[in-house]
Amino acid sequence: MGSPSRTIWIFACVVSFALQWTATAAQDTINHDAQPYPMAMVNNASSGSDGPWWYISQPIDFPEQYLPMLPSVSRTSLTVNASACRSQTAACQLPIPDMWTASGAYAYSGGLRTQSDLIDGAAWDPDYAALLSLDGSGRHIQQRMTMYHGESTANPAYLDYHTMSVSEDYSVRYSPDTGYTMNVGFFSLYGAEDTLEYEAANGTTVRSNLTLPQAYQKGLAPSMSYGLHIGSVEPNITSSLVLGGYDMSRCLSDPIVSSSDTVELRGITMNVTTGGYAYFNTVSAYVPSRLSANGSSVSSLEVHLRPGVPHLYLPQDTCDAIAYHLPVTYNSELGLYLWDTDDSTYEEIVSSPHHLDFTFASDDGQEKTIGVPFALLNLTLTSPIVSTATQYFPCKGWTPDTTGYTLGNAFLQSAFLAQNWQTNKLFLAQAPGPDFLSASVQKIGHMDTTLTPAKNPPSWESSWASTLKALPAREGRTSSSNQSYPEDGSSAALSGGAIAGIVVGAIVGLAIVAAAIWFLLRKRKQRRWDESAAQAVKSPMLQYSPFEEGVPYLSKSPMELQEVEARQVQVFEMGAESKIPELPVKDRPHEK
Ligand SMILES: *[C@@H]1O[C@H](CO)[C@@H](O)[C@H](O)[C@H]1NC(C)=O
Ligand SMILES: *[C@@H]1O[C@H](CO)[C@@H](O)[C@H](O)[C@H]1NC(C)=O
Ligand SMILES: *[C@@H]1O[C@H](CO)[C@@H](O)[C@H](O)[C@H]1NC(C)=O
Ligand SMILES: *[C@@H]1O[C@H](CO)[C@@H](O)[C@H](O)[C@H]1NC(C)=O
Ligand SMILES: *[C@@H]1O[C@H](CO)[C@@H](O)[C@H](O)[C@H]1NC(C)=O
Ligand SMILES: *[C@@H]1O[C@H](CO)[C@@H](O)[C@H](O)[C@H]1NC(C)=O
Ligand SMILES: *[C@@H]1O[C@H](CO)[C@@H](O)[C@H](O)[C@H]1NC(C)=O
Ligand SMILES: *[C@@H]1O[C@H](CO)[C@@H](O)[C@H](O)[C@H]1NC(C)=O
Ligand SMILES: *[C@@H]1O[C@H](CO)[C@@H](O)[C@H](O)[C@H]1NC(C)=O
Repeated sequence: MGSPSRTIWIFACVVSFALQWTATAAQDTINHDAQPYPMAMVNNASSGSDGPWWYISQPIDFPEQYLPMLPSVSRTSLTVNASACRSQTAACQLPIPDMWTASGAYAYSGGLRTQSDLIDGAAWDPDYAALLSLDGSGRHIQQRMTMYHGESTANPAYLDYHTMSVSEDYSVRYSPDTGYTMNVGFFSLYGAEDTLEYEAANGTTVRSNLTLPQAYQKGLAPSMSYGLHIGSVEPNITSSLVLGGYDMSRCLSDPIVSSSDTVELRGITMNVTTGGYAYFNTVSAYVPSRLSANGSSVSSLEVHLRPGVPHLYLPQDTCDAIAYHLPVTYNSELGLYLWDTDDSTYEEIVSSPHHLDFTFASDDGQEKTIGVPFALLNLTLTSPIVSTATQYFPCKGWTPDTTGYTLGNAFLQSAFLAQNWQTNKLFLAQAPGPDFLSASVQKIGHMDTTLTPAKNPPSWESSWASTLKALPAREGRTSSSNQSYPEDGSSAALSGGAIAGIVVGAIVGLAIVAAAIWFLLRKRKQRRWDESAAQAVKSPMLQYSPFEEGVPYLSKSPMELQEVEARQVQVFEMGAESKIPELPVKDRPHEK
């Protein structure tokens, strides 16, 4: 008793037990050997008045309440309080259950005691608030989120006491008079910080984990990372989201890698994969980079990638320059372009392999391109933004302030996005169309700085081949490579005689094409802008409304239709008066 050896023995036991206990505790928390954690995505109800989009039906609280959430990189996950839906006449599209009012709620969270005072949108997330032009208020809360592995309903994991936010009445603004109460939440994939500290209404400081960091620290995923292809509801491309990994079949190209929050966009060109083309104001299917800002063309833009926000937030000049080639009309009330669905060209462009190509600079010094078919840019505005479903082209003129130029869901439908927050790498690659390969989920290790694309993938064009039908080649509108736009310096290697021959040939060819186009256009009802009208698009006075008189389209609530109708008719008349007459093609500023 009390002998030194016995003391040592006891000490050794205690140490050994402590070590074992620590090891077990560590296994309970971070687990770098964990399998990637797929999330179930659903689309069985229309989600988003500007998509529609696939979403996560995420259980939170206890008993579980299922809330629709879009994947995002907002700092916290955001849910919507049922009371928000009651505040607008148009009901929420997706059922949002009552929460936090019944007794028993908050049982697995900090409860009312950890709820913050009301916060504005920027205090939830400055980037998302700016892009969505949010007003109204919400709160930070601590809440339980129940996680299910993919479609499985077995072995749920609980993210308890984790920081989320709740919208009381955040609303998305399109203009001072147009907006809607946010009715779909966000599932945060953010991982640049682990925790958020905020002040509870009772004055104490609360600090708890964010969503992805908590899932990682609980050992659900091998790294604090995600791989996402949001896919598309129409046409149908199943969405794919994996925590701590990615579905390799959605990553068709060697990824563009960035070590910062932005990627350098070097150009947005237009082209057609095969068949004739239907773009306006071009003599070939290929239209060179439309990137321009503040009155002149620009060689690059730094852009953010933000899942969850709907549009392409680019300089107004860039949007106008793309729109110049499309059957769309700018609507100043919404700040968006509406497809002119009565023009046969609309159907031609969105149902055939016409696409926008986004070229980016990768960290490895290479330029890589991601194609986005116009079929994915035939998005739908629905109630409560507009009263009748309206097809729109999702380019939104953006002036950087709180946040810079951004590519949202519209772009990400055709792009694979992954981020490893632990090595600070962002990966962006071409995603497939409706004919994608079967899933092959891979791990993203916590030290990984590279990501392997699908092995021998089909070309992205071929993944669209069964959905998009080539247009017949037509006179004046063929995608014949013989008429393709000469790139700068492309003739440098040619002899003077060859150049002269090409120039003469091109002029003659252009004249023939121009005459043909002019002849065709003369027969058509004028409805398009020339370059100056496209420039003037920023002035609301010059808007040419696509709406027939008396067809209302904007409403905060049906109650206000009358008023909106009156204003709309007025805009229509002004637009009609000031519409600039179409110039004959020979006077138009052609692609040089
Ligand atoms: C979607 O479908 C699932 C399973 O079919 C169902 O449980 C769920 O309630 C549906 N969600 C919505 C929002 O309709
Ligand atoms: C949700 O709304 C109800 C009113 O319907 C309110 O009493 C409650 O405090 C709100 N919950 C939160 C977490 O803000
Ligand atoms: C405020 O809430 C915190 C967190 O639950 C709790 O620990 C603290 O006692 C509360 N303070 C007061 C003054 O009620
Ligand atoms: C974050 O989550 C882990 C795992 O659940 C937990 O051990 C840790 O205490 C949490 N951190 C905070 C600040 O709540
Ligand atoms: C969408 O495609 C998937 C397979 O890729 C299929 O299982 C699903 O039923 C399709 N959904 C609709 C609405 O067609
Ligand atoms: C445009 O698309 C055609 C057909 O796919 C292709 O041959 C051509 O190289 C493309 N043009 C440019 C400049 O990328
Ligand atoms: C265009 O001008 C705005 C406002 O002056 C500025 O914030 C923005 O950075 C400019 N864009 C480019 C690409 O230079
Ligand atoms: C455009 O989108 C709408 C809504 O998803 C769809 O009904 C329509 O068929 C699409 N148009 C074409 C030409 O594909
Ligand atoms: C392009 O020009 C070549 C040589 O003149 C000709 O053989 C070819 O058929 C042309 N291609 C198309 C698609 O018109």
